[in-house]
Amino acid sequence: MNFTFSSEHKLIQETAKEFANNELLKGVIDRDENKTFPKDQIKMMGEMGFLGMMVDPKYGGGGMDTISYVLAMEEISKIDASCSVIMSVNNSLVCWGIEKFGSDAQKEKFLPKLARGNMIGAFCLSEPEAGSDATSQKTTAIDKGDHYLINGTKNWITNGSTASIYLVIAQTDVEKGHKGINAFIVEKDSAGITVGPRENKLGIRSSDTTSIMFSDVQVPKENRIGEDGFGFKFAMKTLEGGRIGIASQALGIASGAYELCLKYAQERKAFGKEIYKHQAISFMLADMATEIDCARLLCLKAAWQKDNNINYAEASSMAKLYCAEKAMKITTDAVQIHGGYGFVKEYHVERLMRDAKITQIYEGTSEIQKLVISRSILK
Ligand code: CAA
Repeated sequence: MNFTFSSEHKLIQETAKEFANNELLKGVIDRDENKTFPKDQIKMMGEMGFLGMMVDPKYGGGGMDTISYVLAMEEISKIDASCSVIMSVNNSLVCWGIEKFGSDAQKEKFLPKLARGNMIGAFCLSEPEAGSDATSQKTTAIDKGDHYLINGTKNWITNGSTASIYLVIAQTDVEKGHKGINAFIVEKDSAGITVGPRENKLGIRSSDTTSIMFSDVQVPKENRIGEDGFGFKFAMKTLEGGRIGIASQALGIASGAYELCLKYAQERKAFGKEIYKHQAISFMLADMATEIDCARLLCLKAAWQKDNNINYAEASSMAKLYCAEKAMKITTDAVQIHGGYGFVKEYHVERLMRDAKITQIYEGTSEIQKLVISRSILK
């Protein structure tokens, strides 16, 4: 066992930290308040290689491992979790899904643009009546010979109005249940697509979340990913990696809040001394530090298993579950440590608390992670 990072890992971590502090921190409160999509910031992230970190360099990506991705996600998420969800969806759902399971033609056509941020992608699985119960897809993709015809509605789609391509999961053969589901690359400018208004959310407010309606959208056959009927497994396999991304986002939100608390507790005085000298506060900080360390180790373990081709379904669900739950707890305590200042926007912790909530919900709720873990340990 070796718990040290390589010099490359340290460099990536340092680069992401510097970038987040220099480029994402300014304006983050306003972007959150006004739901302003971080267009310029995402462009810079693409140029710096943060949007296709693990993509093979032959497709314009960084060719990095998942550990590097976790380290960068943590640093970006400390400062702006709206930027990091865009990064996570593009890297671990869209780029990874296409690179791992797509055809050569699909990879050549889409990966270079996705990896450099010249386009971003979205992952369309959830529906108005199929969230956790993802096999209950109502969106249909009917085989019409040389193309499929897609009809239905997807919702809660990250990058819904800003993505250029959608990975759409749809039911081709109802009789076959989940074995009749397919995944498609659908270009946003296809006729018949209507994008709903951007949701007005509790957290990650500057990221773009919409519903998308598909009405007789023609998708060429060559845009199907994998064999006929592979769509549900495609979604599940892709989400295994996605959950490492969201776990590291939750980790970053928690560690960002913790770092703000450390600083505040050493500056703020009450009853004649800095508040960290009161055990009520120092014990809260000790709990935070311990839980963040556990959360980070779980993320890195899942990433390491993925990089070493060891089944990581259970590990990624454990990381996602633990990190999300701790992010919610730690950010709530961070507001408490800051007292009244924690309740106003300028001190950042209230935003981190609002942002933490979604990590318990998307890419599989905490309850779904417990389902995956319990099935894995009890099989
Ligand atoms: N890898 C490969 N195959 C898998 C799999 C995995 N990880 N998990 C399940 N499967 C397969 C099963 O083996 C089964 O296939 P067979 O019949 O051939 O064996 C098939 O898929 C169906 O599996 P289950 O019987 O386990 O299905 P289920 O309905 O009982 O439960 C579930 C599945 C785990 C609950 C799944 O529905 C799930 O993960 N739900 C949560 C969905 C989710 O995470 N949504 C997130 C939306 S995307 C998002 O949030 C992105 C964003 O924008 C931020």
